[in-house]
Amino acid sequence: MFKLENLVRPNIRNLQPYSSARSEYQGTADVFLDANENPFGRLNRYPDPQQMAVKNKLARRNGLPRNSIFIGNGSDEIVDLAFRIFCEPGQDKALCFSPTYGMYAVSAAIQGVELMNLPLRSDFQIDTIKLKPYLEDKQLKIIFICSPNNPTGNTIHQADIAQILTQFSGIVLLDEAYIDFSAQDSWLNVLSQYPNLIISQTLSKAWGLAGARIGIAYAHETIIRIFNRVKPPYNVSTPNQLAALKVLEDEASCIRQIEIILKEKIKLQTALNDLAIVKRVYPSDTNFLLVEFTDATVCYQALRAKGVITRNRHRLVANCLRITIGTPAENEKLLSGLLEQQKELLKLNK
Ligand SMILES: Cc1ncc(COP(=O)(O)O)c(C=O)c1O
Repeated sequence: MFKLENLVRPNIRNLQPYSSARSEYQGTADVFLDANENPFGRLNRYPDPQQMAVKNKLARRNGLPRNSIFIGNGSDEIVDLAFRIFCEPGQDKALCFSPTYGMYAVSAAIQGVELMNLPLRSDFQIDTIKLKPYLEDKQLKIIFICSPNNPTGNTIHQADIAQILTQFSGIVLLDEAYIDFSAQDSWLNVLSQYPNLIISQTLSKAWGLAGARIGIAYAHETIIRIFNRVKPPYNVSTPNQLAALKVLEDEASCIRQIEIILKEKIKLQTALNDLAIVKRVYPSDTNFLLVEFTDATVCYQALRAKGVITRNRHRLVANCLRITIGTPAENEKLLSGLLEQQKELLKLNK
């Protein structure tokens, strides 16, 4: 049985959160002498600690109450806070399905929490039979599911996620960083059915705002309240809040960019599949392709020498590079680099 009080670490349950000047007085006034700010300048005031304007926009867009939304300094902050809220160092555990996004392991290590890795099956889906015994582990507090997954690019089966949500009495953190590129629905539509579900999204990918560090967690308001108590008071800067508002106000531009990226992805998939040095292009619900080469490291280095940087994921998935979809010109450069490399290899093998 899911019981939030039992999951939250005692020190967090008893935490007296910092009461910032801007959370103590939120109204308008002529004179603000309460936060030791410099009265001169343009960025002299602390930001809104609750990021109300951004939350209002997201609440309206997604048809959700504002108090079910948390804004983090990137979704990496949401992962970090989840560990700090739910996992007692040296005692509790978390679990993820490998290969997956590397920050879960880093945040676990920082918090001194064991992160168990259950390998995905060869089709990159969750092995629910192997997962079963883990669900009984009383020390297991968080399961991370990344869907669509990085670096494999696929969406995790809906039925498997639903099963985990109902059978596991801890927190399920569903990382939907790439959901805006996917034809599949977000789990936001059914958030209210699952009290143990935290959905994390980001403006860093499809929304084109990686530089502004805006991550979003959606969950039941009792969970969001705890995140708000634990976060640093002014965790999202004023310029970043304004940048978030700007992109959210112009969703049409974002949709146009996604359309270009997805068209480019199809073109790139076809062109890559025609190369002899490419063994396989995995299907992708994201803005990147996981590509198996005859020798990934050789291709990575050849591309790097030509000024094209990809991500070598060979250690996670044998002989694979993860390639982000760029502009049409950038993708051309990638392809011509690979073609040149292929010609050189053919010459060597003659
Ligand atoms: C699956 C996944 N989650 C989260 C992030 C980080 O997002 P943010 O920029 O919001 O911290 C990334 C970035 O690569 C990612 O791949």
